[in-house]
Amino acid sequence: MLLNRRVLVGICGGIASYKAVELVSRLQQAGALVDVIMSERAEEFVRPLAFSTMSHRPVYTDLWEPSGRAAETHIALGEDADVLVVLPATANTLAKLAHGIADNMLTAVALATKAPLVLAPAMHHTMYTHPATQANLAILRERGAFIIEPEVGQLASGEVGIGRLPDSSVLLGAIQVVLGRNGDLAGRRVVVTAGGTQEPIDPVRFVGNRSSGKMGYALATEARDRGADVILISGPVALDAPYGVDVRRVETALQMRDAVFDAVEEADVLVMSGAVADYRPAEVAPQKLKKGGKEAREVDAEGGFALRLARNPDILGELAAASQQSEAVERIPGGNRPRRRLVRIGFAAETSDVLTNARGKLAAKRLDLLIANDVSRSDSGFGSETNKVYIFHADETMEDLPVMPKTGVAAAIWDRVVHLLS
Ligand code: PMT
Repeated sequence: MLLNRRVLVGICGGIASYKAVELVSRLQQAGALVDVIMSERAEEFVRPLAFSTMSHRPVYTDLWEPSGRAAETHIALGEDADVLVVLPATANTLAKLAHGIADNMLTAVALATKAPLVLAPAMHHTMYTHPATQANLAILRERGAFIIEPEVGQLASGEVGIGRLPDSSVLLGAIQVVLGRNGDLAGRRVVVTAGGTQEPIDPVRFVGNRSSGKMGYALATEARDRGADVILISGPVALDAPYGVDVRRVETALQMRDAVFDAVEEADVLVMSGAVADYRPAEVAPQKLKKGGKEAREVDAEGGFALRLARNPDILGELAAASQQSEAVERIPGGNRPRRRLVRIGFAAETSDVLTNARGKLAAKRLDLLIANDVSRSDSGFGSETNKVYIFHADETMEDLPVMPKTGVAAAIWDRVVHLLS
């Protein structure tokens, strides 16, 4: 996504400019061609050498250098750029950008370029909330600039308030959102499930599984980077919410079912990579179960007891039945108008007879694609960074993919989905 993209990073004179060094490094490592432009005051906080070391390219600072080449540079830089990111966007630079003032290299490039503008304001809270700054932000937003909201936290003054520059993961996510706007999933709404469900036994214990959410979060992030509007329905996991993704948290299979049915109403695609528990404890104890306690349990001679499990709904199964019903209604003369067809993709987590079991699930759940993973391998399935998958198509053809990072598996799945949608 960032490979060979031309990213202009404009640095203003704010204390948070040191955080831009990490962003430039991450952009460069992701394969972007990063040109840094610094305002005069930015150089008082961070030396240009820090940026050129990270970007492996020259840093542009002086609009008035004696060679006179800067006049060509400020036009050429802007012409080639895919995006211009300004951070920390100070109140002073925001005011100049809002009013078309071009008195240094950064503001001159900003005026000359047609590349989308991403602004990450960071300053003292009194300056950020000042009506002049808010009015300038409104002008820039109206003109199409993408504003990354500053965070609330401890500021350089020691006070707590709004005005902190978010960390580089958030900045990187916002840049990807803007670069992905014209991607091959632009205009599509997709729903992804991730992580495992937790089925309570009592207020502190649950029946669960080993899903880390990595596969689902990779799918959601990749879809976002390709321009989709993404809803991520997530079980409890230790991963940060991807920037720009609508994350809806659930714990149990019943909650996941309700969240999925609500989210797919207006969706084009559903990818169920979450590990939904097929069973839940039939009775949930209202208080923590005590060792040796006999409350509402048949305790055997050794003090053990049986946990009775109830069936959870099969979410993909219910959606398949619902789609079959609506297809039948559509076939009746005068029946309902066809609604937007939902592309349904399931995963199969198997430890044996992977291919046979996967074929069975593809047919039973009437899926467009089924991604089978052999979760008995250490480099595949639950918790791992990589996955080994087989992609089954509705016509039962099968693709055998090599082991690859979950980000690569996600890209391969969305490639197939784009093909299905077209
Ligand atoms: O989260 P990670 O650590 O990255 O691990 C990724 C993964 C191994 C969890 C993922 O790649 C995966 O295989 N997810 C599906 C796990 C699963 O529940 O498989 P299943 O074979 O039991 O279910 C088949 C399909 O039906 C799945 O798409 C599942 O979401 C869905 N299902 C299952 C049960 C249920 N009650 N309702 C469902 O809709």
